[in-house]
Amino acid sequence: MKILGIESSCDETAAAIVEDGSNLLSNVVASSQQMHSKYGGIIPDVAAREQLKSIIPVIDEALSKLKNGHNDIDAIAVTVGPGLIGSLLVGVEAAKTLSLVWNKPLVPINHLVGHIYANWITKASDDLQLALNGNQPTLPAIILLVSGGHSEIILMTDHGKFEILGTTKDDAAGECFDKCGRLIALPYPYGPFIQSEAQKRESDERKFIFPRPMLDSGDLNFSFSGLKTAFLNETKKIPPQDLKQLAPYLASELQDAIVDVLVKKTLKAVIKHKPLSLILAGGVAANKQLRSVLQQKLFELDNKIGFYCPPISLCTDNASYIAASAFYNYKPLNISQIDATPDLNF
Ligand code: KG4
Ligand code: ZN
Repeated sequence: MKILGIESSCDETAAAIVEDGSNLLSNVVASSQQMHSKYGGIIPDVAAREQLKSIIPVIDEALSKLKNGHNDIDAIAVTVGPGLIGSLLVGVEAAKTLSLVWNKPLVPINHLVGHIYANWITKASDDLQLALNGNQPTLPAIILLVSGGHSEIILMTDHGKFEILGTTKDDAAGECFDKCGRLIALPYPYGPFIQSEAQKRESDERKFIFPRPMLDSGDLNFSFSGLKTAFLNETKKIPPQDLKQLAPYLASELQDAIVDVLVKKTLKAVIKHKPLSLILAGGVAANKQLRSVLQQKLFELDNKIGFYCPPISLCTDNASYIAASAFYNYKPLNISQIDATPDLNF
């Protein structure tokens, strides 16, 4: 079964085709990130207008990989939320129209659930040049889902069966990366630039020490707003002429603090629930330190639990996981029942 996935929840316009929930045949992403960089953040109206410009060419390019274009797809899957209303509407309305005109079933997908299914993609066309794991996670699994707006620890017992074990009480991990990156005048998007700034650190000297919020709270919840405040307070003490030289230390200590909390809490969930797999998902899963520390610490804890994280390009927003998710949670609805839902929960 070939599913065309469509994703337009934020500033990426994406379309992908996935066969049988695991084989990625095409994956096209257009981003308006560049346009937001001059404002230091996403401007929703600009994002929506760019979505409108890109949606048809992106879908067209994704379908061009198939011999008979849209005639070869069996269904369409679309992100219905959470996200920005203007952006979501573009993908949802395009998907509804194509579903009607091509007479194909339409499956609404929650973007957050979608992220998880990047881990079910095990094969891809050669031209996509993806280093894939080759195996799918076995269930039950503990999932660390970390994106721009969400930080969740989830127990997955079956497809579509999720239990939230822990969540953030305030800011998400991605939000903390983003807000702190902005404070030290890094370029937008801030998360990847915090990572690259951290790599410029020249010595091990601990010039800054940041708190690990809620590390010993006894539950699996997170809180990152205190960390952001601690970061702000340190930056206020730095004379402007010294910021450039100290930015790598600020960035790497921030990254260490975020990764430390995410990893320790996730491993607590692993110890408690004894899953067969540990899955990392969401845009922050692209962070190299998070990927490597989580894998290493899991291995030290129990080397029989499988570790899964998508290739970096499938962590941040794209439509591959929207199509894969629809295969394992195949519930098409009539187009009159499908609406863009900006505040959709997990
Ligand atoms: O999942 P995603 O692409 O969009 C949402 O659904 O929110 O996640 C975006 C988040 C942003 O906060 C971004 O800064 C963060 O993922 N991010 C990273 C890295 N790449 C993306 N954070 C840290 N290190 C990275 N390499
Ligand atoms: Zn996302």
